[in-house]
Amino acid sequence: MRKIGQGLVIALVVAAVAAACSAAVLPGQSSYDPIENGRRIYYTGTNWRGERITYQGGPAFENFGMMQGSLTCASCHGPTAQGGRHFMHMTVMDAPDIRYKALASEEHEEGGGGEHDEQGGEAGYTLEDFRRAVVEGRHPNGDPVDPNMPRWNLSDQDLADLFAFLKTLP
Ligand code: HEC
Repeated sequence: MRKIGQGLVIALVVAAVAAACSAAVLPGQSSYDPIENGRRIYYTGTNWRGERITYQGGPAFENFGMMQGSLTCASCHGPTAQGGRHFMHMTVMDAPDIRYKALASEEHEEGGGGEHDEQGGEAGYTLEDFRRAVVEGRHPNGDPVDPNMPRWNLSDQDLADLFAFLKTLP
C-alpha cells in the first residue's frame, strides 16, 4: 500500500511538472497563426486559445472510461495524416489518408456522376465537404461517415485552420 502511495505521489509530481512546462511554453506562442492553430488542433485536440475541441461518437471503447474525450485527429489519422490501420483498445481502426491531396483525389475517383475533371484539380474537396465530414459526419455524397470517426464541435475558424493545415502536408 505504501509503495502504491509513493508511486502515486511521483506520478502527480511528474504530471504537475509537465503541466507547468506546457503552460510555460504557451505565452510565447500567443500570436495567432492559422496554420499553427490547425496543426495544434490536429496533434493536441486543443486550439490556440487552449480550448479543448469536444466531440460526440467515435469508437465504442471510448464509452468505457479512461480515454473519454482525449482523442486527437493524429490518434487515428496518424502523425503525417496518411492514416493507416492500427489497433486501439482491441479494435482495428482503419483511418484513411486525410492529407488534402488524398481527400481531393479520392473525391475525384468516387465522385459519383457529374463533373469529371480529368486534371484532378483543386475543386476536389472543398471546405464545405470537410465541414460536412468532420462536423456532421457525412461524406460529400451524403452517406454517413463510419461511426469510428467522431463528430467534432469545431468553430468555423478552427475548422478552416485545420483544413489549411492539411493543405500544407506533402
Ligand atoms: C477514433 C478515430 C478517429 C479520430 C480521432 C479522427 N478520425 Fe477522421 N476518420 C476516422 C475513420 C475511421 C474515418 C473513415 C470514415 C469512413 O470512411 O466512413 C475517418 C474519416 C475522416 C475524413 C474523411 C471523410 C470523407 O469525406 O471521406 C476526414 C476529412 C477526417 N476523418 C478528418 C478528421 C479530423 C480533422 C479529425 C480530428 C479533428 C479526425 N478525423 C479524427 C477515424 C478518426
